[in-house]
Amino acid sequence: MYDLIFECGTVIDGTGSPGFKADVGVVADTIAAVGDLSQERAARRINASGLMVCPGFIDIHTHTDITALANPLMDSTIHQGITTQLAGNCGLCVGMALDEPRFALERRLSRGTRRFSWSSLSEYLDCVQDQGIATNFAVLAGHNTVRKRVMNMEPRAPTSDELDAMKALVAEAMDEGAFGLSTGLEYTPGRFAELPELVELARVAAEKGGFYATHLRSEADGLLDSVAEALAIGREAGIPVQLSHHKAEARRNWGMVDRSLAMVDRACAEGLDVALDQYPYTAFMTGMWLRVLPEWAQKGEADEMIARLADPEERRRVLEGIRARNVDWDLLQIAVARGHRELQGRTVAEIAKERNADPAETALDILIAERGMASVISFDMSEEDVRKVMRHPLTAIGSDGVSTTSYGRLGEDRPHPRSYGTFPRVLGRYVRELGLLSWEDAVRKMTSLPASRIGLERRGVLAKGNVADLVAFDPDTVIDVATYSEPHRFPAGIQYVVVAGTVVIDDGIHTGARPGRVLRRGQAGL
Ligand code: ZN
Ligand code: CU
Repeated sequence: MYDLIFECGTVIDGTGSPGFKADVGVVADTIAAVGDLSQERAARRINASGLMVCPGFIDIHTHTDITALANPLMDSTIHQGITTQLAGNCGLCVGMALDEPRFALERRLSRGTRRFSWSSLSEYLDCVQDQGIATNFAVLAGHNTVRKRVMNMEPRAPTSDELDAMKALVAEAMDEGAFGLSTGLEYTPGRFAELPELVELARVAAEKGGFYATHLRSEADGLLDSVAEALAIGREAGIPVQLSHHKAEARRNWGMVDRSLAMVDRACAEGLDVALDQYPYTAFMTGMWLRVLPEWAQKGEADEMIARLADPEERRRVLEGIRARNVDWDLLQIAVARGHRELQGRTVAEIAKERNADPAETALDILIAERGMASVISFDMSEEDVRKVMRHPLTAIGSDGVSTTSYGRLGEDRPHPRSYGTFPRVLGRYVRELGLLSWEDAVRKMTSLPASRIGLERRGVLAKGNVADLVAFDPDTVIDVATYSEPHRFPAGIQYVVVAGTVVIDDGIHTGARPGRVLRRGQAGL
């Protein structure tokens, strides 16, 4: 007797091997059989003819740290067929942030929802599990978070005591369930770290069986040096390396991924364990200050940064620096401006024109009005590069998104459409429409490839005995629907999503179930 049978679907098992017609039977939280189950009894049968039945997708790169608590239904994520997501990326791990900004976060979360409080990563993960969550959830330890706890925003190398304190924090996070260490070397204070510090910390993660995920120091002019740095960390610390959201930013750097991918291939040939991830869009999203301000003006917390700009002489120097950056203002769209929602979705060039103002001045004014916290979408990547990176056999799909939703305060943000569309977009656009990948290879990049990188043994492959995390989608209709101007839209064609044996998306509708599990490194049966 089965609890659930998907009948007559095409099974794409996640390994990359050819799809085949079979039924998939689930008992409790486990895949109990794959084959002809037409004579078996089941509490529920789902007709999957015309659908592809796959392991649930694994999103190896998310920033769902905060919304794991604020939006436990994981709407934008689960509707894509994602059943497991890894947060704590780009050096930022909210579960390890125990300093003052965490209390600001708690205050934000406690408005309209319950109050959460934690004093360790493990307690944070308990909060997520206790409240319930629709997808499985795992985290990386974040280097920026660790460095800030020990050294605040100090722009210098650590003393040996400070380095020891940081190593202890990484070790503690790994023992409490983190799957590795992430860095965000383009952000403060992560950017103040040099190679020896990063090697020491990565070594701690390596000894505990973790991997190293890195938002490189530069994804623009300094891309190749930054890849070299990541590979050096892999080599010296003896740790598997994951290059996050791989791309070359700014037109003058388009095509540079040929060389970065060649560096990856050479490192692999040498025996290094390197892989990548990517989201399938030609625009990236980041903090407005990062895209607009000259580097020297980005020092300190947002408040300090903005306070400096009140000084007319400082402002003049900053404006000079902004102009020297040669930003294409018509390619820079305001994504989130919580104080001035009317600006969201418009380019800086448009806003400047309307105000009869200079675009650099306008950008600075917006940044000040938002107290430094606005974010922008930059249409500054090449489609050809996106395809080259996607075709690389070691590239997994990762959204770099946040689990969000269309209602309440989250619904007022205008996020990058990747939070809603990443996985269906790869399937609909890059597999069905463009033929860039086969279905089998695309699914592999969404399942077994990230599972093996994270270290999940019972997920990522649809096989008897594995956890029943499943997705069934329609290959004729699957596609992303979210756009830059209308991001809060669920994709088409993702019909059923099952997490640990419980149906969460049922014929396209969220059932409200929250069967997701918090996954901790070292736990049995991951
Ligand atoms: Zn990043
Ligand atoms: Cu990221």
